Amino acid sequence: MRKLLIAGNWKMYKTISEAITLVNTIKAGVHSINGVDIVVCPPFTALDAMSKSVERTSIELGAQNMYSATEGAYTGEISPQMIKDIGCRYVILGHSERRGYFKETDDMVNKKVCLALDYNLNPIVCIGETLEQREQSKTKEVVRTQFENSLKGLTVDQMNNIIIAYEPVWAIGTGKNATPQQAEEVHKYIRQLIVNTYDRTVSENVRILYGGSVKPDNCGDLMQKGNIDGALVGGASLKAESFIQIIAKAKEISDNNK
Ligand code: 13P
Repeated sequence: MRKLLIAGNWKMYKTISEAITLVNTIKAGVHSINGVDIVVCPPFTALDAMSKSVERTSIELGAQNMYSATEGAYTGEISPQMIKDIGCRYVILGHSERRGYFKETDDMVNKKVCLALDYNLNPIVCIGETLEQREQSKTKEVVRTQFENSLKGLTVDQMNNIIIAYEPVWAIGTGKNATPQQAEEVHKYIRQLIVNTYDRTVSENVRILYGGSVKPDNCGDLMQKGNIDGALVGGASLKAESFIQIIAKAKEISDNNK
């Protein structure tokens, strides 16, 4: 049985003091909730403060990106060693905003994934099609290519530490979420890709999150689906109230039937 995971991707929002206020409210709202993995991914500048704020709570910390080298003359970059050192257990890799705005390729994502695993970080690897690709019926082809190339060469043990986030680009920040049926179809397909590349045991272990306009009022129907193991939440994770509601819904679903 896979534990549901709710991760908040704060993107480029929140100063340190705003981040502290947000995480403290989240902490108060989730302190009695167990059985759901909770991750917040603030901007790099707030990680140190967040790491202190979430000490001795069930909230884990993730970074939103990292560079694919341990150290070196890479001005402006942050290494896996550094995010591990600051207290991160997770790292989001290959987000569509990085693929789009910063031209990250599957090869670059793959290098990052491999190095993150070397540092015992759990990569949350994002894949998903654009609207144009969906309209051209290329969703599965795009998702398969990103899956195969971003996760190339991983051993079974490594794959067991991966979290996949299916984030259709057309659903990100648009208020237009994939329907539970649309999302489930792709999640099921991704799980089959894991069976084909590894085996059924690995495919049953790996969590596949849905991301793209997840809100308190649509998260329940999404997470009821058998292959949707939680959510990667953008906008709704920036407000404590909506993020807590999503986590509470996950808890209700996991208590009832997952
Ligand atoms: P929204 O929830 O704002 O659509 O963002 C989704 C996302 O990109 C999470 O990584």
